[in-house]
Amino acid sequence: MGRDVIIACDFESAEKTYAFLDNFKEEKPFLKIGMELYYAEGPSIVREIKRRGHKIFLDLKLHDIPNTVKKAMAVLSNLDVDIINLHAAGTVAMMSAALEGLTRPDGSRPLLIAVTQLTSTDQISMEEDLLIKEPIADVVMHYAAKAKEAGLDGVVCSPLEASKVHERCGKDFLTVTPGVRFADNDNGDQKRVMTPAQAKEIGSDYIVVGRPITKAEDPVAAYRRCVKEFVD
Ligand code: C5P
Repeated sequence: MGRDVIIACDFESAEKTYAFLDNFKEEKPFLKIGMELYYAEGPSIVREIKRRGHKIFLDLKLHDIPNTVKKAMAVLSNLDVDIINLHAAGTVAMMSAALEGLTRPDGSRPLLIAVTQLTSTDQISMEEDLLIKEPIADVVMHYAAKAKEAGLDGVVCSPLEASKVHERCGKDFLTVTPGVRFADNDNGDQKRVMTPAQAKEIGSDYIVVGRPITKAEDPVAAYRRCVKEFVD
């Protein structure tokens, strides 16, 4: 899979999701399904979106003991999604177990990527709440290196961290980056943002774009603008 734009389908119901997807007559965008939609609708929403011909990044961020994550990944693997994720904070043992669970009898599996530190966590909350005292940039890189050591395919990270992750973990280690805004857009609650063109420049493999597309007056035009800036 090459560079691509992934639309974050942060909708509360299947009905709202399909109403959004029905705008797309020519393209079949790569979609991210997160906790809100998955917990509302269950695995049937994944099957239906897959049936409609979309690639899917299932963003459920698993984090539990290795055996539980392994078994959950085995079940999720049957949904035949393209990318799935977990928290690197679960340790190398948990990440390795996840990979085992995800791998089907024929050796195939979805790509598995790790969340390092959430972008909502800052230095102060990391130190005070998690008692991690190192600089957050070092923590992110360390988690990325541990994900690579466990055999994962990449990480979710801020576009600002993507080139450093590639330096440390290799250019084939995937960087999937949210926090993307058009130059003329409102940033909403995203603090550290990049345009699709800048994300391409610094070497992101996938950008995850939600509201700039889902809340746009013309979502198809906004999606095409992202693709033009990031992929073409
Ligand atoms: O609407 P917006 O473009 O901000 O959506 C970004 C998507 O990426 C959301 O689904 C959000 O949960 C997700 N995300 C993020 N920052 C992270 C990890 C995931 O914004 N560090």
